[in-house]
Amino acid sequence: MIVLGIESSCDETSVAVLKDGTVLSNLISSQDFHINFGGVVPELSSRAHIQIISSLVKEALAKAGCSLDDIDVIGATAGPGLIGALLVGYTFARGLAYAKKKIFVPVNHIEGHIFSGFLMEVKPIFPLLVLAVSGGHTLLLLAKSFTEIIKLGSTVDDAAGEAFDKVAKMIGLGYPGGPKIQAAAENGNNRKIQFPIADMKGKYDFSFSGVKTSVLRYIQSAFGAPKTTLIPEEQLNDIAASFQFAVVRALIDKCELALKNFEVASLSLVGGVAANEELRKSFFQLGAKYKKKVVIPKLEYCGDNAAMIAFRAQSLILAGEKFSIESDAFPNFSSKYFINASL
Ligand code: KG4
Ligand code: ZN
Repeated sequence: MIVLGIESSCDETSVAVLKDGTVLSNLISSQDFHINFGGVVPELSSRAHIQIISSLVKEALAKAGCSLDDIDVIGATAGPGLIGALLVGYTFARGLAYAKKKIFVPVNHIEGHIFSGFLMEVKPIFPLLVLAVSGGHTLLLLAKSFTEIIKLGSTVDDAAGEAFDKVAKMIGLGYPGGPKIQAAAENGNNRKIQFPIADMKGKYDFSFSGVKTSVLRYIQSAFGAPKTTLIPEEQLNDIAASFQFAVVRALIDKCELALKNFEVASLSLVGGVAANEELRKSFFQLGAKYKKKVVIPKLEYCGDNAAMIAFRAQSLILAGEKFSIESDAFPNFSSKYFINASL
Protein backbone atom coordinates (compact mmCIF):
# COMPACT_ATOMS: atom_id res chain seq x y z
CA MET A 1 0.00 0.00 0.00
CA ILE A 2 1.41 3.41 -0.96
CA VAL A 3 0.14 6.34 1.11
CA LEU A 4 0.59 10.05 0.54
CA GLY A 5 0.41 12.02 3.80
CA ILE A 6 -0.13 15.75 4.21
CA GLU A 7 0.28 17.73 7.46
CA SER A 8 -0.46 21.45 7.88
CA SER A 9 -1.94 21.87 11.38
CA CYS A 10 0.43 24.58 12.61
CA ASP A 11 3.72 26.02 11.36
CA GLU A 12 5.09 23.04 9.45
CA THR A 13 4.01 22.06 5.97
CA SER A 14 4.91 18.44 5.49
CA VAL A 15 4.35 15.84 2.79
CA ALA A 16 5.37 12.18 3.00
CA VAL A 17 5.13 9.01 0.97
CA LEU A 18 4.97 5.64 2.74
CA LYS A 19 5.15 2.23 1.10
CA ASP A 20 3.89 -0.62 3.31
CA GLY A 21 4.90 1.40 6.36
CA THR A 22 8.36 2.32 5.11
CA VAL A 23 9.06 6.03 4.68
CA LEU A 24 10.09 6.78 1.09
CA SER A 25 10.06 10.54 1.62
CA ASN A 26 9.13 12.92 4.44
CA LEU A 27 9.65 16.58 3.56
CA ILE A 28 9.14 19.21 6.23
CA SER A 29 9.07 22.92 5.51
CA SER A 30 9.19 24.92 8.77
CA GLN A 31 7.87 28.47 8.87
CA ASP A 32 10.81 30.02 10.69
CA PHE A 33 9.58 33.60 10.13
CA HIS A 34 7.21 33.29 13.13
CA ILE A 35 10.32 33.83 15.31
CA ASN A 36 9.99 37.54 14.53
CA PHE A 37 6.56 37.60 16.21
CA GLY A 38 7.42 35.52 19.28
CA GLY A 39 4.90 32.81 18.33
CA VAL A 40 2.83 31.42 15.47
CA VAL A 41 0.66 33.97 13.63
CA PRO A 42 -2.27 31.91 12.29
CA GLU A 43 -3.03 33.98 9.17
CA LEU A 44 0.60 34.06 8.08
CA SER A 45 0.83 30.34 8.68
CA SER A 46 -2.11 29.62 6.31
CA ARG A 47 -0.58 31.76 3.58
CA ALA A 48 2.79 30.07 3.86
CA HIS A 49 1.13 26.63 3.62
CA ILE A 50 -0.67 27.74 0.42
CA GLN A 51 2.57 28.98 -1.12
CA ILE A 52 4.45 25.74 -0.69
CA ILE A 53 1.99 22.84 -0.60
CA SER A 54 1.82 22.11 -4.31
CA SER A 55 5.57 22.09 -4.93
CA LEU A 56 6.18 20.08 -1.74
CA VAL A 57 3.79 17.35 -2.93
CA LYS A 58 5.62 17.17 -6.27
CA GLU A 59 8.98 17.06 -4.52
CA ALA A 60 7.90 14.34 -2.06
CA LEU A 61 6.54 12.18 -4.90
CA ALA A 62 9.72 12.68 -6.94
CA LYS A 63 11.93 11.79 -3.98
CA ALA A 64 9.87 8.64 -3.39
CA GLY A 65 10.12 7.75 -7.09
CA CYS A 66 6.32 7.75 -7.43
CA SER A 67 3.65 9.49 -9.42
CA LEU A 68 0.19 10.33 -8.15
CA ASP A 69 -1.14 7.33 -10.08
CA ASP A 70 0.92 4.99 -7.86
CA ILE A 71 -0.73 6.30 -4.70
CA ASP A 72 -3.46 4.14 -3.11
CA VAL A 73 -4.47 6.31 -0.17
CA ILE A 74 -4.21 10.02 0.65
CA GLY A 75 -4.24 10.95 4.34
CA ALA A 76 -4.38 14.51 5.66
CA THR A 77 -4.43 16.07 9.11
CA ALA A 78 -8.02 16.93 10.01
CA GLY A 79 -7.28 18.55 13.39
CA PRO A 80 -6.78 19.58 16.05
CA GLY A 81 -4.81 22.62 14.92
CA LEU A 82 -5.16 26.12 13.50
CA ILE A 83 -8.27 26.00 11.36
CA GLY A 84 -6.94 28.17 8.51
CA ALA A 85 -3.70 26.20 8.36
CA LEU A 86 -5.52 22.86 8.50
CA LEU A 87 -7.89 23.84 5.71
CA VAL A 88 -4.99 24.34 3.30
CA GLY A 89 -3.52 20.84 3.60
CA TYR A 90 -6.86 19.13 4.12
CA THR A 91 -8.68 20.61 1.14
CA PHE A 92 -5.60 20.23 -1.08
CA ALA A 93 -5.35 16.53 -0.15
CA ARG A 94 -9.08 15.98 -0.53
CA GLY A 95 -9.06 17.70 -3.91
CA LEU A 96 -6.25 15.46 -5.10
CA ALA A 97 -8.05 12.36 -3.85
CA TYR A 98 -11.25 13.46 -5.56
CA ALA A 99 -9.56 14.18 -8.89
CA LYS A 100 -7.50 10.98 -8.86
CA LYS A 101 -10.23 8.77 -7.33
CA LYS A 102 -8.11 7.75 -4.33
CA ILE A 103 -9.23 6.73 -0.84
CA PHE A 104 -9.16 9.83 1.36
CA VAL A 105 -8.46 9.43 5.10
CA PRO A 106 -8.89 12.33 7.54
CA VAL A 107 -6.27 11.86 10.26
CA ASN A 108 -6.39 13.11 13.83
CA HIS A 109 -3.10 14.92 14.51
CA ILE A 110 -2.69 13.50 18.03
CA GLU A 111 -3.32 9.97 16.79
CA GLY A 112 -0.57 10.66 14.24
CA HIS A 113 1.85 11.47 17.07
CA ILE A 114 0.66 8.55 19.25
CA PHE A 115 1.64 5.93 16.68
CA SER A 116 4.74 7.72 15.35
CA GLY A 117 6.93 5.13 17.11
CA PHE A 118 5.81 2.65 14.45
CA LEU A 119 7.83 4.61 11.88
CA MET A 120 10.98 3.29 13.55
CA GLU A 121 12.63 0.04 12.57
CA VAL A 122 12.03 -1.44 16.02
CA LYS A 123 8.25 -1.13 16.56
CA PRO A 124 6.24 -0.66 19.76
CA ILE A 125 4.10 -3.60 20.93
CA PHE A 126 0.51 -3.42 22.24
CA PRO A 127 -0.61 -2.88 24.95
CA LEU A 128 1.42 0.28 24.71
CA LEU A 129 1.82 3.08 27.26
CA VAL A 130 2.17 6.38 25.39
CA LEU A 131 3.27 9.73 26.76
CA ALA A 132 2.27 12.28 24.10
CA VAL A 133 3.81 15.68 24.77
CA SER A 134 3.55 18.57 22.33
CA GLY A 135 2.85 22.27 22.21
CA GLY A 136 -0.88 21.66 22.42
CA HIS A 137 -1.22 18.40 24.36
CA THR A 138 0.05 16.39 27.28
CA LEU A 139 -1.56 12.98 27.39
CA LEU A 140 -0.89 9.70 29.11
CA LEU A 141 -2.51 6.90 27.14
CA LEU A 142 -2.86 3.18 27.05
CA ALA A 143 -3.16 2.04 23.45
CA LYS A 144 -4.54 -1.50 23.29
CA SER A 145 -4.63 -1.52 19.50
CA PHE A 146 -4.67 0.99 16.64
CA THR A 147 -8.36 1.67 17.32
CA GLU A 148 -8.58 1.50 21.13
CA ILE A 149 -6.82 4.32 22.94
CA ILE A 150 -7.59 4.64 26.64
CA LYS A 151 -7.00 8.10 28.02
CA LEU A 152 -5.46 7.79 31.48
CA GLY A 153 -4.66 11.44 32.07
CA SER A 154 -4.05 14.83 30.51
CA THR A 155 -3.00 18.31 31.51
CA VAL A 156 -5.52 20.40 33.37
CA ASP A 157 -3.92 23.65 32.20
CA ASP A 158 -0.82 24.21 30.02
CA ALA A 159 0.61 21.54 27.76
CA ALA A 160 4.23 20.60 28.52
CA GLY A 161 5.52 22.25 25.33
CA GLU A 162 3.43 25.33 26.02
CA ALA A 163 5.04 25.60 29.47
CA PHE A 164 8.51 25.37 27.87
CA ASP A 165 7.54 28.09 25.38
CA LYS A 166 6.02 30.41 28.00
CA VAL A 167 8.89 30.07 30.47
CA ALA A 168 11.45 30.62 27.70
CA LYS A 169 9.66 33.83 26.75
CA MET A 170 9.44 34.89 30.41
CA ILE A 171 13.17 34.52 31.02
CA GLY A 172 14.02 36.09 27.69
CA LEU A 173 15.17 33.04 25.75
CA GLY A 174 12.57 33.62 23.04
CA TYR A 175 10.82 31.26 20.62
CA PRO A 176 10.78 28.30 20.11
CA GLY A 177 11.12 27.74 23.82
CA GLY A 178 11.75 24.00 24.09
CA PRO A 179 15.08 23.79 22.27
CA LYS A 180 16.27 27.10 23.83
CA ILE A 181 15.54 25.93 27.38
CA GLN A 182 17.25 22.61 26.66
CA ALA A 183 20.36 24.39 25.35
CA ALA A 184 20.54 26.76 28.34
CA ALA A 185 19.89 23.89 30.76
CA GLU A 186 22.95 22.02 29.48
CA ASN A 187 25.13 24.61 31.22
CA GLY A 188 22.99 24.96 34.34
CA ASN A 189 22.56 23.25 37.68
CA ASN A 190 19.18 21.49 37.76
CA ARG A 191 19.13 21.26 41.58
CA LYS A 192 19.75 24.99 42.10
CA ILE A 193 16.08 25.98 42.44
CA GLN A 194 13.34 23.67 43.68
CA PHE A 195 10.37 24.38 41.42
CA PRO A 196 7.24 22.55 42.61
CA ILE A 197 5.71 19.51 40.93
CA ALA A 198 1.92 19.60 41.13
CA ASP A 199 0.21 16.79 42.99
CA MET A 200 -2.98 16.21 41.04
CA LYS A 201 -6.37 14.96 42.16
CA GLY A 202 -6.75 13.04 38.93
CA LYS A 203 -4.14 10.31 39.43
CA TYR A 204 -2.66 10.51 35.96
CA ASP A 205 -3.28 14.19 35.21
CA PHE A 206 -0.66 16.89 34.83
CA SER A 207 -0.48 20.58 35.66
CA PHE A 208 2.24 22.98 34.58
CA SER A 209 0.79 26.36 35.46
CA GLY A 210 2.16 26.12 39.04
CA VAL A 211 5.76 25.58 37.97
CA LYS A 212 5.38 28.38 35.41
CA THR A 213 4.14 30.79 38.10
CA SER A 214 6.97 29.71 40.41
CA VAL A 215 9.51 30.66 37.76
CA LEU A 216 7.84 34.05 37.42
CA ARG A 217 7.85 34.60 41.22
CA TYR A 218 11.47 33.50 41.39
CA ILE A 219 12.71 35.92 38.74
CA GLN A 220 10.60 38.71 40.23
CA SER A 221 12.02 38.25 43.70
CA ALA A 222 15.60 37.50 42.64
CA PHE A 223 15.96 40.01 39.81
CA GLY A 224 13.19 42.55 40.40
CA ALA A 225 11.47 42.12 37.07
CA PRO A 226 11.14 39.54 34.32
CA LYS A 227 13.72 41.13 32.04
CA THR A 228 16.46 39.09 30.38
CA THR A 229 19.07 41.76 30.69
CA LEU A 230 18.69 41.57 34.45
CA ILE A 231 19.36 37.85 34.64
CA PRO A 232 23.04 36.93 34.41
CA GLU A 233 23.76 33.96 32.13
CA GLU A 234 24.77 31.60 34.89
CA GLN A 235 21.49 32.11 36.76
CA LEU A 236 19.52 31.93 33.53
CA ASN A 237 21.03 28.51 32.85
CA ASP A 238 20.21 27.38 36.39
CA ILE A 239 16.59 28.49 36.03
CA ALA A 240 16.29 26.67 32.69
CA ALA A 241 17.86 23.50 34.11
CA SER A 242 15.74 23.55 37.29
CA PHE A 243 12.54 24.19 35.33
CA GLN A 244 13.32 21.41 32.85
CA PHE A 245 14.10 19.07 35.75
CA ALA A 246 10.69 19.77 37.36
CA VAL A 247 8.77 19.21 34.11
CA VAL A 248 10.63 15.99 33.28
CA ARG A 249 10.08 14.70 36.84
CA ALA A 250 6.35 15.44 36.66
CA LEU A 251 6.02 13.58 33.35
CA ILE A 252 8.13 10.57 34.36
CA ASP A 253 6.42 10.19 37.77
CA LYS A 254 3.00 9.72 36.13
CA CYS A 255 4.41 7.25 33.62
CA GLU A 256 5.91 5.26 36.48
CA LEU A 257 2.59 5.25 38.33
CA ALA A 258 0.89 3.90 35.20
CA LEU A 259 3.55 1.21 34.81
CA LYS A 260 2.86 0.08 38.37
CA ASN A 261 -0.87 -0.20 37.74
CA PHE A 262 -1.19 -1.43 34.16
CA GLU A 263 0.36 -4.35 32.39
CA VAL A 264 1.99 -3.06 29.20
CA ALA A 265 4.32 -4.62 26.66
CA SER A 266 6.14 -1.45 25.68
CA LEU A 267 6.25 2.31 26.14
CA SER A 268 6.58 5.15 23.70
CA LEU A 269 7.36 8.85 24.09
CA VAL A 270 6.01 11.01 21.25
CA GLY A 271 5.32 14.61 20.18
CA GLY A 272 7.45 17.73 19.84
CA VAL A 273 8.63 17.70 23.47
CA ALA A 274 9.91 14.13 22.95
CA ALA A 275 12.85 15.87 21.27
CA ASN A 276 14.01 16.91 24.74
CA GLU A 277 17.23 15.09 25.60
CA GLU A 278 16.63 14.98 29.37
CA LEU A 279 13.15 13.58 28.88
CA ARG A 280 14.36 10.97 26.39
CA LYS A 281 17.10 9.88 28.79
CA SER A 282 14.73 9.63 31.77
CA PHE A 283 12.14 7.76 29.69
CA PHE A 284 14.70 5.16 28.59
CA GLN A 285 15.83 4.78 32.23
CA LEU A 286 12.22 4.22 33.30
CA GLY A 287 11.76 1.53 30.65
CA ALA A 288 14.97 -0.17 31.76
CA LYS A 289 13.86 -0.10 35.40
CA TYR A 290 10.60 -1.89 34.54
CA LYS A 291 12.23 -4.09 31.87
CA LYS A 292 9.96 -2.78 29.13
CA LYS A 293 10.71 -2.12 25.52
CA VAL A 294 10.99 1.64 24.85
CA VAL A 295 10.41 3.26 21.47
CA ILE A 296 11.07 6.96 20.99
CA PRO A 297 10.87 8.20 17.40
CA LYS A 298 13.90 9.90 15.91
CA LEU A 299 13.75 13.71 15.98
CA GLU A 300 12.35 13.98 12.43
CA TYR A 301 9.22 12.13 13.63
CA CYS A 302 8.86 13.90 17.01
CA GLY A 303 7.86 17.33 15.72
CA ASP A 304 5.01 17.74 13.26
CA ASN A 305 5.57 15.62 10.17
CA ALA A 306 3.52 13.95 7.43
CA ALA A 307 5.11 10.49 7.77
CA MET A 308 3.15 9.96 11.00
CA ILE A 309 -0.05 11.15 9.28
CA ALA A 310 0.48 8.73 6.37
CA PHE A 311 1.21 5.90 8.82
CA ARG A 312 -1.95 6.64 10.78
CA ALA A 313 -4.01 6.64 7.57
CA GLN A 314 -2.51 3.26 6.65
CA SER A 315 -3.17 1.77 10.10
CA LEU A 316 -6.85 2.74 9.90
CA ILE A 317 -7.29 1.27 6.43
CA LEU A 318 -5.60 -1.98 7.54
CA ALA A 319 -7.86 -2.05 10.62
CA GLY A 320 -10.82 -2.15 8.21
CA GLU A 321 -12.08 1.38 8.83
CA LYS A 322 -14.18 2.87 6.03
CA PHE A 323 -14.05 6.47 4.79
CA SER A 324 -16.23 8.49 2.45
CA ILE A 325 -14.78 11.49 0.69
CA GLU A 326 -18.28 12.98 0.38
CA SER A 327 -18.95 13.02 4.12
CA ASP A 328 -15.47 14.17 5.14
CA ALA A 329 -15.76 17.60 3.55
CA PHE A 330 -14.40 19.58 6.52
CA PRO A 331 -11.63 19.19 9.08
CA ASN A 332 -12.83 17.47 12.24
CA PHE A 333 -11.01 17.87 15.56
CA SER A 334 -12.53 14.92 17.39
CA SER A 335 -11.37 11.31 17.53
CA LYS A 336 -13.64 8.30 17.78
CA TYR A 337 -10.82 6.05 18.96
CA PHE A 338 -10.27 7.67 22.36
CA ILE A 339 -11.88 6.02 25.38
CA ASN A 340 -12.00 7.84 28.70
CA ALA A 341 -10.68 5.64 31.47
CA SER A 342 -12.84 5.26 34.57
CA LEU A 343 -10.08 5.28 37.17
O1 KG4 B 1 4.37 18.33 18.19
P1 KG4 B 1 4.85 19.72 17.94
O2 KG4 B 1 5.91 19.91 16.87
O3 KG4 B 1 3.66 20.67 17.59
C1 KG4 B 1 2.42 20.55 18.23
O4 KG4 B 1 1.60 19.72 17.76
O5 KG4 B 1 2.25 21.24 19.26
O6 KG4 B 1 5.39 20.29 19.34
C2 KG4 B 1 5.93 21.57 19.45
C3 KG4 B 1 6.36 21.78 20.90
C4 KG4 B 1 6.74 23.23 21.19
O7 KG4 B 1 6.08 23.65 22.36
C5 KG4 B 1 8.25 23.16 21.41
O8 KG4 B 1 8.75 24.13 22.31
C6 KG4 B 1 8.40 21.76 21.98
O9 KG4 B 1 7.50 20.98 21.21
N1 KG4 B 1 9.78 21.29 21.83
C7 KG4 B 1 10.60 21.00 22.88
C8 KG4 B 1 11.86 20.65 22.33
N2 KG4 B 1 11.76 20.73 20.96
C9 KG4 B 1 10.48 21.11 20.68
N3 KG4 B 1 10.37 21.03 24.20
C10 KG4 B 1 11.39 20.70 25.01
N4 KG4 B 1 12.62 20.37 24.57
C11 KG4 B 1 12.90 20.32 23.25
N5 KG4 B 1 14.12 19.99 22.81
ZN1 ZN C 1 2.07 18.04 16.82
